[in-house]
Amino acid sequence: MTRHFLTLNDLTPGELETLLQRAIELKQMRAAGERYEPFRGKVLGMMFEKSSTRTRVSFEAGMAHFGGDAIFLSPRDTQFGRGEPIEDTARVLSSMVDIIMIRTYAHETIETFAAHSAVPVINALTDMYHPCQLLADMQTWYEQRGTIRGRKVAWIGDGNNMCHSYINAARQFGFDLHIAAPKGYEPDASLLASNKGCVTLTDEPFAAADGADLIVTDVWASMGQEEESNERALAFEAYQVNRELMAAARSDALFMHCLPAHRGEEVSADVIDGAQSVVWDEAENRLHAQKALLEFLLT
Ligand code: CP
Ligand code: NVA
Repeated sequence: MTRHFLTLNDLTPGELETLLQRAIELKQMRAAGERYEPFRGKVLGMMFEKSSTRTRVSFEAGMAHFGGDAIFLSPRDTQFGRGEPIEDTARVLSSMVDIIMIRTYAHETIETFAAHSAVPVINALTDMYHPCQLLADMQTWYEQRGTIRGRKVAWIGDGNNMCHSYINAARQFGFDLHIAAPKGYEPDASLLASNKGCVTLTDEPFAAADGADLIVTDVWASMGQEEESNERALAFEAYQVNRELMAAARSDALFMHCLPAHRGEEVSADVIDGAQSVVWDEAENRLHAQKALLEFLLT
């Protein structure tokens, strides 16, 4: 059976744990200059309907390290951008490449694609989820602090795709997630309802951050919401992760942000560029975690 990675729930907690350990190992191998090219002749297809820096480069570099190739596809110069059905695109692409990653809008698009794909499909961000980022975030936590089981994680800001993946992560990795989101910008209600045991929702950032081991935030306006930026800036004004909010967390709390960040909006410059921030490790770990994911799905 073809395995896909559309959300964190597509892997068991045990598989996720093994994958993170492997990511750490692959990182050490790369640092040691070890060549490891198990995927010579293998090709990754990369469909991007939204912009990307980290995701594109980490997948493309990862395949190159593995001795394989990657093909970048954008809607501007492909037939799917001109309305070729997603089912047809899936059948054709998956007959030519070995694995596919997709960044798109509606989560249903990637589900439909996967249902018609003969090869593994990876979610490289939809409006609903961003599971690859969580692999990197969890790897970063493990490297810094060991297991995250039983820890308190605070999500501050928009109930967006990243927040939804943190909800899945809370269940899969066994931490308590405290979400602070303004009214009208809460995460998906049914996802919250099915994860009540490990997720708490408030509109009070200081309550969520109180005693937290990890503070995480993301942009106030995601890709596709640019025209709502002004109205969102007002709604999220009290949700900036700054020194005062970090002071409510444990003194050894870490700060994460998937990037790109807007200093002075969702996070102050002194926090993101400060001692508790691990955002650069977090970004680099996209490479190592996704290499472990490619290896898991391809072998
Ligand atoms: N964090 C993340 O997915 O970054 P990009 O949008 O640059 O890929
Ligand atoms: N929530 C952001 C994440 C970017 C990596 C977005 O969807 O634009």
